[in-house]
Amino acid sequence: MSTVKDYQLWINGQFVPAVAGETFESVNPFTGEPVARVPRGKKADIDKAVAAARQAFDEGRWPRMSGEERSRILKDIGEKMDAASAQLLSVMIAESGSTVRKAKGEVWLSAKNMGYFAKLAAQSLEKPIEALSRPGVSKNVLRREPIGVCAQIIPWNFPLQMAIWKLGPALAAGNTVVLKPAEETPAMALELAQILADSELPPGVVNIVSGYGEEAGAALAAHPDVDKIAFTGSTEIGKKLMAEAAHDLKRVTLELGGKSANIIMDDADLSQAVDGALYAAFFHSGQCCTAGTRLFLQDGIYDEFLKRFTERAKHIHLGNPAEKSTDLGPLVSKKQQERVLQHIAAGKKEGATCLLGGQAPTAPELQDGYFVEPTIFVDVTNDMAIAREEIFGPVVSVLRFKTEAEAVKLANASQYGLAGAVWSQDSEKALRVAQQLRAGTVWINEYHLINEKAPFGGYKQSGLGRELGEDALDEYTEVKHIHIDEIGDRSKKFWYDAVSAPAPQPA
Ligand code: NAI
Ligand code: MG
Repeated sequence: MSTVKDYQLWINGQFVPAVAGETFESVNPFTGEPVARVPRGKKADIDKAVAAARQAFDEGRWPRMSGEERSRILKDIGEKMDAASAQLLSVMIAESGSTVRKAKGEVWLSAKNMGYFAKLAAQSLEKPIEALSRPGVSKNVLRREPIGVCAQIIPWNFPLQMAIWKLGPALAAGNTVVLKPAEETPAMALELAQILADSELPPGVVNIVSGYGEEAGAALAAHPDVDKIAFTGSTEIGKKLMAEAAHDLKRVTLELGGKSANIIMDDADLSQAVDGALYAAFFHSGQCCTAGTRLFLQDGIYDEFLKRFTERAKHIHLGNPAEKSTDLGPLVSKKQQERVLQHIAAGKKEGATCLLGGQAPTAPELQDGYFVEPTIFVDVTNDMAIAREEIFGPVVSVLRFKTEAEAVKLANASQYGLAGAVWSQDSEKALRVAQQLRAGTVWINEYHLINEKAPFGGYKQSGLGRELGEDALDEYTEVKHIHIDEIGDRSKKFWYDAVSAPAPQPA
């Protein structure tokens, strides 16, 4: 019997129960047993959290301190995350079903990403614009200022990294935040709250409220004192939040679904491309927004590639995510497992051929977990639902193409545009294809690699705005232009005497 740890909401620097006193449990997806009991935050809790964030923004030190000071505090948070990595790791594995390797990578990267945002915080957000300024006429300055109170709603697949990608740039720019983690992974965010509570963040700068999407999430998105909504999750909810934001023109950034094309050309290094395609499709059991779920194989290598790919996929080891030898863990929830199995059933019904997997595994030791076998579909056409819809499970659709132009056309025939990849030893050709793909990130002979200095986000229905890189700071700031007059002699400047004497006009 595992122990169930109790958590509290973190509001205005205090750990508190929900106003209504209700709780819910998060579950270990390998055992089905509860691992954490957390407050079920609702509108009343969101109201408290937003009020705290509002006050911290309107009257508090955080937006008013120097960037260097914020940078020092954020750097310290990154270091504290590193120091707490063993605890973060064990909560992540138990609560989300992440394998040891995935979880280790995520914890390490999250702390590192926080260090990167700390560096960004130290950059001046104010710069004189030489091209605008004209001596004797005006001096012109552009300032980037924080937007205000940010609602951040995050998913369960990368529960720590998504928190840091949102908190990092918001805090670097001087905003305050109410963060709502996914109901599947609330303990991860509330563990992070412990670290933030030990830091020098002033009370109310970050508030973390666990709860259900349609309760806490919806109340947060609708709150009139929220200035910006940042969301990662399904395209369906992303659209809802954008409509909600339209009521009072809240700023919005959205990181949504994907159906990324992974294109293998005839001249690819096959052993590397097979490895890369397995990683693209099956890493974290396919629960990645960037997953390479449409695998495009060129005619010349189709048979050989598919043979090797299927053979390797058969040997992916499903097991307890807490064991180092496990390649593929369970999906996050029973609901997600059912959703993925429904997509598979729809694919079969549409006439695609299921070459491998296609069901929950039958091994007795996996029966308590929410597993789906690595699944490969062939005879897929781009108009089938399995080639169009995000599945978020270990399911890949294999498609065939003849020419480079056909590959580009098929790859772009999607409502999504988050990521994609091209595998070829001809660097000119690979670059040519990469340039034509309508997606926010394209890898050449690589997959899933995230560079914290590079903007990350989607074209089309994969989202709006960018995370990471300096672009992330832009998404958390408003731009103000300050014009400082240097003409001095006002008599001939304004409209009332412009009739008799035209004012000097800056170019
Ligand atoms: P979801 O979009 O419903 O949930 C994501 C977050 O939004 C969670 O924190 C949830 O509590 C919150 N939320 C849900 N409804 C809300 C509402 N009405 N107002 C405010 N917040 C709300 O995603 P879900 O149900 O977990 O997964 C469904 C599908 O979404 C997956 O199968 C996958 O295709 C996609 N997804 C994509 C992700 C990505 O990284 N782009 C991450 C998670 C899911
Ligand atoms: Mg949902």
